[in-house]
Amino acid sequence: MSVEHSAAHAEQAKRGAFSSRRVFILAAIGSAVGLGNIWRFPYVAYENGGGSFIIPYLVALITAGIPFLLFDYAMGHRHRGSAPLSFARLRRGTEGLGWWQVAICFMIAIYYAAVLAWAVSYTIFSVNKAWGDAPDAYFFGEYLQAGDPGVTASVVPGVLIPLVVVWVGVLVIMLLGVQRGIGATAAIFIPLLVIAFLILVVRALMLPGAGVGLDALFTPNWSALLEPGVWAAAFGQIFFSLSIGFGIMITYASYVDRDTDMTGSGLVVGFANSSFEVLAGIGVFAALGFMAQASGVAVSEVATSGIGLAFIAFPAIINEAPGGALIGVLFFGSLVVAGLTSLVSVIEVVISGIRDKFDLRRRTATAVVVAPAALLSLVFFSTTSGIYVLDIVDHFVNRFGILVVAVVSVVVVAWVVRALPRLADHLNLTADLQVGRLWVVTLGALVPVVLTIVLIQELWAVIDEPYGGYPMWMLVVFGWLMVVAIAVAGFVAARVPWREGTSLADPSVPDSEEIS
Ligand code: ALA
Repeated sequence: MSVEHSAAHAEQAKRGAFSSRRVFILAAIGSAVGLGNIWRFPYVAYENGGGSFIIPYLVALITAGIPFLLFDYAMGHRHRGSAPLSFARLRRGTEGLGWWQVAICFMIAIYYAAVLAWAVSYTIFSVNKAWGDAPDAYFFGEYLQAGDPGVTASVVPGVLIPLVVVWVGVLVIMLLGVQRGIGATAAIFIPLLVIAFLILVVRALMLPGAGVGLDALFTPNWSALLEPGVWAAAFGQIFFSLSIGFGIMITYASYVDRDTDMTGSGLVVGFANSSFEVLAGIGVFAALGFMAQASGVAVSEVATSGIGLAFIAFPAIINEAPGGALIGVLFFGSLVVAGLTSLVSVIEVVISGIRDKFDLRRRTATAVVVAPAALLSLVFFSTTSGIYVLDIVDHFVNRFGILVVAVVSVVVVAWVVRALPRLADHLNLTADLQVGRLWVVTLGALVPVVLTIVLIQELWAVIDEPYGGYPMWMLVVFGWLMVVAIAVAGFVAARVPWREGTSLADPSVPDSEEIS
């Protein structure tokens, strides 16, 4: 074995690795399939034209989702590092993009954990339908104890306790490492999730009125295709749902054996995620159709927005449906499992970035990241104002965090570093299916143009009508300032020097010099 090879092996052993391609694919599907699929997709699809949404959605998947997924894979697999290290190895001056992605993940992790905590509570509540006859009042009133929008310090124990449980679970998985923690969790839970969800969908399809729900979801509204907002929704959904553009797939790809076919793996992950998404749409709308029929109203009356869909509409369905408790446990249990395997991927982006930068042991880096993340999560989201802050952060970080960093990253790599052909060559080394000019042009031109249009559209929408009717100071602090602060934090982090133990040389070029 050459000196370079043994050094590379030693580095990989230190960073951690997935034991096989199968485990990597399961972990990547685990990351992609999350709250975005189960509570976000059905509602987004319904709001944006129902059946005809499938067209912008598929266009977004094929023209931006899959190409971008392969871009993330090529970055991580070639440079064998966390997002900041991969960017630094590509070109020293681009490291800040990696830290920007890390900062986005830190933000997502702290609120994502809170939604998971609600799902943990609701899995238990399902057993005896603890929400009673008025799930709406129960969710906001008794459970979250939400007051007026603002910020309060009064803690809600019913949220605090499951939130602590979620963070302890995350801590244990992260301490176990890449294979024994993340890989093993996905290998166990993803098959279970698929089984539980299939049972749920079949059960939902057997409910009277299921067809009405499916009609509502799949009856196309072709004129919606002319609305730019519908296309914006499709692209936004794809980025969040596929876990692309914010460091996750770069990080996971860095833990994959050099000989692995990344292009083929990407296609499997992309289509598995979308299949799950459509399946979730079918299951959720079949259940909503039942609810609509049972209460004699239109499906539009029972299909409420994201958070409400899961925590208000579903309990109402569970109350009415025969065998409701089982539906509840399967639905909320699936939400917990899907969310947990996504949350660990989000937090791993931060842990691996810190580890690489400071040459820390996994245990130390995990403690350094999870402790403050858990603390902030508890401070902001276990209080009576948690839901409002969560709603604003989620809205802004998805649009003006993920989508902006995705455009900037791909433009810098394509036009400043001009590295796309190099990354294509890297993918082609081990793949059966070769990517070529089409991939380079799609990523370098089409994706930036489309995402820029989407962003302008989103910016326009939020200026035209401030989001959610919240007080302006909340939108400024938790929306605008937050997205600016995470970008700035990224570029400040890039100024911190690397520890000696981490080489910035490109590992795929044997004799490469460290370029500063
Ligand atoms: N991809 C993850 C989700 O869909 C983050 O929730």
